Amino acid sequence: MTAPLIDPFQRAITYLRVSVTDRCDFRCVYCMSENMTFLPKKELLTLEELDRMCSTFVRLGVEKLRITGGEPLVRRDIMTFFNSMGRHLESGALKELTLTTNGSQLERFATDLYAAGVRRVNISLDTLDEQKFADITRWGRLPQVLRGVDAALAAGLKVKINAVALKGFNEDELPTITQWCAERGMDLTWIEVMPMGDIGNEDRLGQYWSLKEVEAAYANHFSVTQLDERTGGPARYVRLEETGQKIGFITPLSHNFCESCNRVRVTCTGEIYMCLGQEDMADLRAPLRSSESDGPLEDAIRAAINLKPKGHDFDYSRQRLDGQMPRHMSHTGG
Ligand code: GTP
Ligand code: 5AD
Ligand code: SF4
Repeated sequence: MTAPLIDPFQRAITYLRVSVTDRCDFRCVYCMSENMTFLPKKELLTLEELDRMCSTFVRLGVEKLRITGGEPLVRRDIMTFFNSMGRHLESGALKELTLTTNGSQLERFATDLYAAGVRRVNISLDTLDEQKFADITRWGRLPQVLRGVDAALAAGLKVKINAVALKGFNEDELPTITQWCAERGMDLTWIEVMPMGDIGNEDRLGQYWSLKEVEAAYANHFSVTQLDERTGGPARYVRLEETGQKIGFITPLSHNFCESCNRVRVTCTGEIYMCLGQEDMADLRAPLRSSESDGPLEDAIRAAINLKPKGHDFDYSRQRLDGQMPRHMSHTGG
């Protein structure tokens, strides 16, 4: 029997977020600069290596696997990987296989994702206005994403919408986005914008919109009930009595969930980040490539988990003073 992954603070690591590419077909202003330099292919873990790595984590007790990017669905042949991961759902070792996507490729892939065993997707969408959508994503087109959302729902996938809250940008859309989600049975999570990476110097389209204010705005439109449930994740939830919807709030700068943190992240080059808000990381690619056996990889994973920090509060206060997190969001997949 393999021992599960337990960190020095007795937290069981059961949730793995894997970024399969740093590329994206959009250039959201808060995420990327217009001219991004992406990694050369040889730096990336191959699909076979991703499979070995994820399967090793599953053997070590990971029950939830979230595929992220960049945009995960622009990775060539990514469905081969999803189909292959489906075997861990069938065996019962993996409880959930899911992804966070910008929705642009869902029209093409939603049915295949469902067939691979995916039941839930998180789709990033900040506005329902075509022009604003083109402005914020630079390269994205709203109708394509809306078709993606429809395709996901039609395929039977449960959809959660992630919206980055931007003052003066989508502030006025709070009731419309909420209602639009309600009509489709979708939950909605607002994310506070985090200063990350070098995203160019152009004027920001929107400004920081505190989730305290977003919550207050809800109270003007709906009857809001606070919910106690914690999912081990960063979101706090409320329920809207009028629609029955759950609305989540993710404040990246808050740290009250670190005690129950159950996750680690692996980048598309095989770096494991033990905490989103800290620089601590270790390389899994070298051990993966050093041997056909998974032994060295397993040792490297255990060694990394042994270094998982308690939380990210101190570091976040530092970053806030600097006004920036050195990594791009697309590097660790959020
Ligand atoms: P579920 O709870 O499974 O629905 O997913 P999620 O909300 O964790 O995943 P998603 O990929 O939709 O994440 C949305 C955003 O939450 C990310 O872009 C991050 O900004 C933030 N986030 C996710 N995990 C963490 C975390 O561990 N710490 C912090 N501070 N933020 C996180
Ligand atoms: N701050 C907050 N959220 C961000 N995302 C990307 N960049 C940032 C940022 N700087 C969000 C995306 C997506 C999720 C994975 O991360 O909109 O919903
Ligand atoms: Fe792409 Fe998501 Fe970044 Fe937008 S936020 S550029 S969709 S990775």
